[in-house]
Amino acid sequence: MVFPPVRRLGPDDLPACVALALDRGWLPEEHKWALLLRAAEGYGVDAPDGGLAGAVVLARYGTTLASVGMMLVAARFGRRGLGRALLAHLLNVAGDATVFLTATTYGRPLYEKLGFRTVGRSATFTGRFHQKARRPATRPAVREDLPAVIDIDTAAFGADRGPFLRELPEFTTQLRVLETEGRITGYAGAWPNGNITVIGPVIALDAAGARLLISDLAATVAGPLRLDLDPDRDELPAWARAHGLRHAAETAFMVHGTWPPPGRRDQIYAPITVALS
Ligand SMILES: CC(C)(COP(=O)(O)OP(=O)(O)OC[C@H]1O[C@@H](n2cnc3c(N)ncnc32)[C@H](O)[C@@H]1OP(=O)(O)O)[C@@H](O)C(=O)NCCC(=O)NCCS
Repeated sequence: MVFPPVRRLGPDDLPACVALALDRGWLPEEHKWALLLRAAEGYGVDAPDGGLAGAVVLARYGTTLASVGMMLVAARFGRRGLGRALLAHLLNVAGDATVFLTATTYGRPLYEKLGFRTVGRSATFTGRFHQKARRPATRPAVREDLPAVIDIDTAAFGADRGPFLRELPEFTTQLRVLETEGRITGYAGAWPNGNITVIGPVIALDAAGARLLISDLAATVAGPLRLDLDPDRDELPAWARAHGLRHAAETAFMVHGTWPPPGRRDQIYAPITVALS
């Protein structure tokens, strides 16, 4: 079967992306797809019988770092080279940037074939967060906080992800900042994914700051939460378990290119979404 060339996806492709996700048993995640198609670069291959045969999203952070997410090929077109073609296209577009992603066990063989190596793990914790009522230690972010938020984020992340951070006031249902001696030293957001509230990003100088941000966000969420953490740093996973969250899934953190990048990655406690960074 001959497929058309890879093409750039835009916001109009949202229904086709959702249909592709459903085809693979993933959640529809419209809110997240809409952000990715708006702020990142979606690429896809049209199916001969309508809709998309495959899709993937590349997010670029300046010229040095990029991430890959939402790698999907419709089941009926699997194992025909489409995944490889989409990923090869992305690596070409990313140029010299270090590219990273979190891989399910299904994606890992493909990524390894194209030169990605595993440098860590990401664990998904889900459930209702139980805690005693307490006074918030953080405050809601206001628009004027954005430059300071971008500054501390760039110092931690090692590249400018401003285009994504500027989307956060609209994308998140809550965005909070932590102040230490009148200076913003951490921030975190929460956003809706179907009936689950995802907590991310979480950036803080230390685990104590991250815990305050997460607790304050969780305090107003009645339903289930999702929090993606590094299971090899136990400061937060053990605490998350103690508050009722359970380890639901695990992915491999994989990299193509030089690693680690500059920046204080130990200050990144949770990604915006595992589909981004
Ligand atoms: C993972 C996925 C995108 C692969 O797409 P695909 O079009 O089937 O992959 P390709 O046909 O291009 O395969 C590329 C290479 O990976 C290997 N590969 C692909 N799927 C594999 C699998 N399940 N097990 C082992 N190897 C696999 C193939 O052998 C192939 O190598 P080759 O070119 O040397 O033969 C597809 O299976 C999918 O959408 N899965 C569900 C969603 C998912 O898990 N996505 C990954 C998220 S991280």
